Amino acid sequence: MFKSIRWRFVLIYFLLVLLAMSIVGLFIITQLEHIQLDMSSKNMVTRIKTIFSSTTAMQQSDDWSQNIDEIQNSFKNGIQIGYNENVYVILNDEIKTIIAGSVEETIGQSAYNLNTINNYILTKSMEGNYVDIVPTEINEESVYHHMSYPIMQDEEIKGYIYLKTNIDYIYDTVDKSKEIMTQATAMALTITILLGLILSRSITGPIKDLTVKAKQMSEGNFDQKVEVKSNDEIGQLGKMFNFLIDELKISISKLHQEKSKMETTFKYMADGVLTVDKKGNIIHANPVARNIISLNNDNENFDNVMLNISENITLSEIEKKEYHGTIILHKNNETYKVDFAPFMDSQNEIGGVILVFKNVTEQYKIEKMQKEFVANVSHELKTPITTIKSYTETLLDGAMCEPNLAEEFLKVINSESDRMSRLVSDLLRLSRIEYEQTKWIKEKLNVKESIQDTYNKLKIYAKNKDISIHVVDIPKDMNILFDKDGFDQIILNILGNAVKYTPNHGNVWIDVKKQDKNINIIIKDDGIGIPKEDQKRIFERFYRVDKARTRELGGTGLGLSIAKHIADAHNSDIKVNSEVQKGTEICIIIPEYEID
Ligand SMILES: Nc1ncnc2c1ncn2[C@@H]1O[C@H](COP(=O)(O)OP(=O)(O)OP(=O)(O)O)[C@@H](O)[C@H]1O
Ligand SMILES: [Mg+2]
Repeated sequence: MFKSIRWRFVLIYFLLVLLAMSIVGLFIITQLEHIQLDMSSKNMVTRIKTIFSSTTAMQQSDDWSQNIDEIQNSFKNGIQIGYNENVYVILNDEIKTIIAGSVEETIGQSAYNLNTINNYILTKSMEGNYVDIVPTEINEESVYHHMSYPIMQDEEIKGYIYLKTNIDYIYDTVDKSKEIMTQATAMALTITILLGLILSRSITGPIKDLTVKAKQMSEGNFDQKVEVKSNDEIGQLGKMFNFLIDELKISISKLHQEKSKMETTFKYMADGVLTVDKKGNIIHANPVARNIISLNNDNENFDNVMLNISENITLSEIEKKEYHGTIILHKNNETYKVDFAPFMDSQNEIGGVILVFKNVTEQYKIEKMQKEFVANVSHELKTPITTIKSYTETLLDGAMCEPNLAEEFLKVINSESDRMSRLVSDLLRLSRIEYEQTKWIKEKLNVKESIQDTYNKLKIYAKNKDISIHVVDIPKDMNILFDKDGFDQIILNILGNAVKYTPNHGNVWIDVKKQDKNINIIIKDDGIGIPKEDQKRIFERFYRVDKARTRELGGTGLGLSIAKHIADAHNSDIKVNSEVQKGTEICIIIPEYEID
């Protein structure tokens, strides 16, 4: 209960008032008792003096022991003694004999032997001054004020008048005052508690309200305000609280917005993003990253996941590189460039690492192809150059003098030069097509006529190999929108291959069909065929199935690549279907030219 400010406040108030009232009460009562006793003391002196002045025997006698009877008589007959007082006339002799007084049975006794007389003040008064006392150890029910008054003559003490007065009335007054003070204190304390409760409620009420609302805020409810009733410190606290809520609301909404923006960005970005803390806990992974590292469960440890993928991308390896760097990762025929960098925590220390997985498969392939291309070109050029060089040297060394040999050598040199020139012009053509520098003049072409032209060009070559080319009767109404040279090049390369890779006395068929809205030109042979695993690669630059054999036949592996590029530029396609030792079927699919 006293943990709350409210009750502590009331308790402090209570104690303060209790303390103040007690001190004041004690002070007043002590003072009252003191004043009363003082007055009693003065009254007693006056009373003693009155008794003395009304006893002529005491006044006139130099030695009281000579006038005991007179003194006693004056007590019996003259002096009025009150019911609340006792008077003793004590002789200043050795044993302090009581010679007269209001208590007759004590006359003749030594004052020292009487319990009713306080020996201490009697002895003290022998010094010549009156002494009074209110004995504290009182067994009697009533309280008496004692006073011993020495009667002097010529600086000699004749005797003592000892007066005892009942002062119960003083203590009655003091007790009454105490009662009043206690009642006043009780009343003050009750009022204090009530006022304290009211006051503390006015302070703690708004604080309680603030606490409840702050708790709701911590649970994410920001749609609330504190009621501000005053302009004091509490009121200002309420105002500040309301201001804080508004500011928080704005900040949180901004944060939400930023977070959702970030999440959307991460979700839809092409690169994989993965955040890992220093202990290896995966904090965040976007869908691409999840897919790359095959992450199904968020609670998995980074190292456990990565160990199956690459030993280079574990947390300890990353730590060795001080959380900075790039690693190449190969997974499922894909190549990823993994860039990683540390992120800082609130203490500005490394909190973990962010990894970005970039799919560089294409780039990687292109780089590889470029390297291969340079190697292939160098290789292809090197062979004819070496041949030309060796034949030229032989000629210079004297072969020139033998006309037959010289002619044969020069023919070889000529054919090798042709081969080089063909290679270079093929390469140039290919590079122009690849870099889209070739300007295609797309025009309406008649398929029948165009095929016929190319067929005528190859007729001799086929005849030399005793290969029969069977051309179906192509309908005349088949037209395509194509660049003339481009189309001729495709047919020449494919038909050329059919003749080239078909042994002597073989057959080549040319068929043309309409299918859907396309025209399919099918060139078929019964030649050597292409193995299954090579079929998908024959459109790559310099790709030849049997390098040694094709070289013999003068092939460089560029023909189909050029044909494919031309077809691509005309929304067309080329498909292969082949079986080793049985033959090859190449189908060129071109959209039909339609007249609007
Ligand atoms: N009709 C076919 N029969 C068997 N193999 C073929 C046929 N057509 C192409 N090929 C194979 O495909 C490879 C690629 O053909 P491509 O036309 O691109 O190159 P090439 O004929 O060797 O040289 P180029 O055509 O540049 O003179 C050839 O080397 C050959 O091995
Ligand atoms: Mg070819």
